[in-house]
Parts: sequence; C-alpha cells; structure tokens
Amino acid sequence: MNGVANIKWVEAASYEEMSKIAADIFKEKLKQNPATVLGLATGGTAEGFYKELVKAYKAGEISFENAQSFNLDEYVGINPENKASYHYYMDQQLFIHVDMKQENIHVPKGNTANLQAAAAEYDAMIKAVGGIDIQLLGIGVNGHIGFNEPGTPFTVGTNVIELTQSTREANKIYFNSIDEVPTHAITMGIQTIMNAKKVVLLISGASKQKAINRLRSGEVTEDFPASALNNHQDVTVIYTGLK
Ligand code: PGA
Repeated sequence: MNGVANIKWVEAASYEEMSKIAADIFKEKLKQNPATVLGLATGGTAEGFYKELVKAYKAGEISFENAQSFNLDEYVGINPENKASYHYYMDQQLFIHVDMKQENIHVPKGNTANLQAAAAEYDAMIKAVGGIDIQLLGIGVNGHIGFNEPGTPFTVGTNVIELTQSTREANKIYFNSIDEVPTHAITMGIQTIMNAKKVVLLISGASKQKAINRLRSGEVTEDFPASALNNHQDVTVIYTGLK
C-alpha cells in the first residue's frame, strides 16, 4: 500500500541549517498563536533546534508563556532527575532557559506504578487541550518515531513498549553501560502522532540514509513506523547527510 506521498522534503546544507529551518517553522507557529500546543522530541538530532529556540526567546522574538508542551516519550523506571531521562534532557535543552510554565510541561511518566493508566491519561490530556498543533520528530535507524519500534500497529495511542536491541545500543552513549539502558519506554503511539495537526521530522547523519530512502519510497508498512507519515496531510522532513 502506498500513502498519499505528500510529504514535503527539504534538504539542508548543514546540521545548523536543518536546525534553523525547523526552528523557524516553530517560531512562526508561536508568533501566530502564543498558546500553541507543542509536541517535542529528544535525541541528539534535536539539540541544535532547541539552541535556536532558546536564542530566539532570549532575543525577545518568541515567548513560551502561554504555550503547552507534550513530549513524545520517556524511559520506564527512570526518574525525571536522572541525567539520562528525557525529562532531564528537556530541562537542559529548553525548559530552564525559557518562560514555559511548569504546569504546561508534559513528559510521559516513566516512573509510575501504573504505566497503563499514565499512558491513557496522557492521550486524554492531549485531547483536553485540543490536540497537538505542531509535532517535532526524530527517526531511529530502524524507522522508529517516538519509541514506536517496527511492528507497532498504527492504531495505538500512548503505550508502553519494549525497546529493541538496536535502539538500546544506539542510546547506550547516554548511560554507563548497555545494562543500564532501560528495556521499556512509554511513548506516544503512532495514532497520537498522526493526530498532530502538523509534523516536522528532522533527519541528520549518514547512519539515517537508509531510513531516508525507505521513507522516500512511499511504502506504508508497520515494519517501518515512520512510513505512517505518508498518510498524514502535513509533514515536512528536513534532512541533511552531514552533522
Ligand atoms: P537521535 O534519535 O536524534 O539521537 O538519532 C532520534 C530517534 O531515535 O528518534
């Protein structure tokens, strides 16, 4: 099955340019609607993007005072204070630098006793604020978006998943050893991501070339989670082979 293939592809000349183009799209949204509901992502690829947003905030171009944010995912069994947690990443990359209100920041709870309830509540919270206006995504070498690993049904909302070995290997640089990398994560589901009104996907580095090619083929398959985006009406992919 092929998707509508209306993804907009933007090639950036450098990692910095990719980050700037993406930040400009988010800045524009925030200027148009200061109460924008942001969907945010973690990972090495997004670091330059957050630097650009912080720069724009410090220059007085944008404010996050009325914005809300929902992050894609979090490791299971890791506290927000843990330096390897995605909550900690977000604090360091963005939240401690800008005027976002604490109560408007949402990261899935990975350290709660009832993960299923936390997952259902997360989707309910997103719905209650009218849905995500603009969602930032990265992509795994295996095509995962959020932590939706290959084989995830496209119909699921926020849920708990088992991380693949390749994902744990890719992320072990943030831990002391592979044994410390959590085995599970809580992640927005593909359906949650597809419900976002606009999606911006960042891809950087030679290791992602295969993922770029597969996404570009237009094939839609649960074996390659990002391919669901072929059926979304407003996706911009900003990519660069260099980092
Ligand atoms: P990365 O992560 O930016 O660190 O490569 C992206 C992802 O796995 O979604």
